[in-house]
Amino acid sequence: MSRFYATTPIYYVNGKPHVGHAYCTAVADTSRRFEQLLGRQTYFVTGTDEHGQKVQEAAERRGVEPQAHCDELSQTFRDLWPTLNIAPDQFIRTTEPRHKAVVRRALQKLWDDGLIEQRSFAGWYSTAAERYWTEKDLIDGKCPDSGQEVTWLEEANYFFLMSRFQQPLIDAIESGKMKILPAKRANEVLGFLREPLLDLCISRPKSRLSWGIELPFDDDYVTYVWFDALMNYVTAIGGFGAHQDNQEALGDTGDAVGSEKSFEQWWPHVCHFLGKDILTTHAVYWPTMLMALGLEPPRQYVVTGWWLVDNTKMSKSLGNVVDPLSLKDKYGPEVLRWFLLREMAVGQDANFSEAALVKRNNTDLANDLGNLVQRTTVLVHKHFDSKVPALPAGREPSAILSSAIDLANYLRGQEVAFEATQTDHQVWPVAKTVQELKLHVTLADIMTLVQRLNRVLASDAPFKTVKTDKDAAAVTVYHTLAGIRVAANLLWPAIPQTSEKILQRVGWTRGVVSIDELNWHDLPTGAEVPRGSAMFPRHQFEVEAKAPKVKAKPKKSAPEVQIDNPIEYVQFAALDLRVGDVIAAEPIKKSQKLLRLEVSLGALGMRQILAGVAQHLQPEQLVGTKIQVLTNLKPRKLMGLWSQGMMMLAETEDGRLVPMRPDGDAPAGSKIA
Ligand code: MSP
Repeated sequence: MSRFYATTPIYYVNGKPHVGHAYCTAVADTSRRFEQLLGRQTYFVTGTDEHGQKVQEAAERRGVEPQAHCDELSQTFRDLWPTLNIAPDQFIRTTEPRHKAVVRRALQKLWDDGLIEQRSFAGWYSTAAERYWTEKDLIDGKCPDSGQEVTWLEEANYFFLMSRFQQPLIDAIESGKMKILPAKRANEVLGFLREPLLDLCISRPKSRLSWGIELPFDDDYVTYVWFDALMNYVTAIGGFGAHQDNQEALGDTGDAVGSEKSFEQWWPHVCHFLGKDILTTHAVYWPTMLMALGLEPPRQYVVTGWWLVDNTKMSKSLGNVVDPLSLKDKYGPEVLRWFLLREMAVGQDANFSEAALVKRNNTDLANDLGNLVQRTTVLVHKHFDSKVPALPAGREPSAILSSAIDLANYLRGQEVAFEATQTDHQVWPVAKTVQELKLHVTLADIMTLVQRLNRVLASDAPFKTVKTDKDAAAVTVYHTLAGIRVAANLLWPAIPQTSEKILQRVGWTRGVVSIDELNWHDLPTGAEVPRGSAMFPRHQFEVEAKAPKVKAKPKKSAPEVQIDNPIEYVQFAALDLRVGDVIAAEPIKKSQKLLRLEVSLGALGMRQILAGVAQHLQPEQLVGTKIQVLTNLKPRKLMGLWSQGMMMLAETEDGRLVPMRPDGDAPAGSKIA
């Protein structure tokens, strides 16, 4: 069985956790859970980075001893993860004796091997970045990383001969031995390596900084915080002699990390998750340190983007930091997880807003997933004695139902001739996108199954057929329950708690299974379907409408306009208008006014829209054309069918209805504003 060792950056304890930290840890947690579904043995480590100037100063500001400060703040990180349903196997702290011992052993080895040298050194030192810069690095005389003041310092220090490993590092990246995703980040590192690589100062004199790990060969110095911190990835899995200390510190880990072999077993399967701001330390310092120590460079990196607020990075100094705890308390941990994972394309930046979080909840979770579970289980309670219905002999699933089964098998990696004709965007097998670490795509793909199941309900209409042909309804209901089980199982890595609840709601009591065992037809007929309330309440996000600025006197030249019921911009911005492609259109029996449309909104998926245009337009006039859709109108049931959006029409004075069509080429899903 192959392995997967996931790590997150270990977080500085100079402040409380924020959404950026929560994101990186949630991505690692979700990836490891997906790897578990794919049948791999996994191990997941996170922790805190506790030495160095930033932490020493944070403790000083509070008037607390550094160790006491670290104990307190480290605990806030440790306590946060379970509340977000993040389940690391190990939480490591750099102030633990087992880690300090590893760092000292590593330094001693490099010293003995002549790969560390003492040199006298002068340069511009930035406290914020905890490093020296050369004159030409500075921007306007300030630290290029932090924008803070720098001071000229001259001192003797110890240097790791990093320059010797420049070419081996380039080779490791170019050969794909050390894989950096997304690829543009690998190019960035290679670009950096086009310039000569300098040696790395790995010591700080105690006279300037005392909060660190003492060098084993000179007790006037402590270790540079990054050299110390990066080694955590080795300590955690028992490298450099840590296995015995790990056993003592962690207790029985089932030999996962406490045996002589544990490092050897796990290291080749490491996957480092990190933010783009710490790429150089991870992809240049770290692999060269490993090479110098006679170890293999890391196998894989996933470099994530930043959460921005109004296009600016969240930072304490700007006071725009989003607290994950308050959001979790307000909306629940799984809504927060879903938003973070689904909204941000792994590797790119994304804007954080509470309004966007609410919208994701309402569309994906409340409308698509929550309604599907609710509508199907209500049918079971009403018409099938609260049990998974038996499949009547000789009745076949409808074409759309069969396509849902095909889609599920395709997602599981089965060889199915599944054509992505009915959805507008390409869907990939889960294993492929997981391996490429494109989790946002994986989740969007799984949601197409949920959307397809909603369309099955709309099209098979079991709530109708149950009265005339109960067997037909039984076929739809059985398969929809089976499909919900498959979808919930596949969504488990992102929303573990909800997924487990959904499994129970459809009568599946055997828990989450690996993707190989995830057979659609395994749902046992006759199983009890318990009652429950709606799983995802819809939320309203209140945007405080600013009072309109009242001008003392309107300018003379301003034309007088009479506006009936004026609205604020925020009210307009609350409308989600999109371009839609009409895939299918048909009249609705017994209705003279309504047409049923199937509309693709591109990556947002498919919608069923009931439009009151039957007396104005023929279905053929709509199929294959583009329309404007109001997508966030509360879904409504008309003639027993759900309408999940509104088609925008111009109503002429003589009473005609004319569809609003984009002029020019705007792909489905494009936002209209
Ligand atoms: N202690 C070092 C890491 C040492 S790992 C051997 C560190 N800590 S940190 O707490 O400052 O940041 C940790 C991670 O949080 C980084 O990957 C960083 O990119 C991430 N984030 C911090 N702010 C962020 C956002 N606004 N958005 C997304 N992630 C961001 O660096």
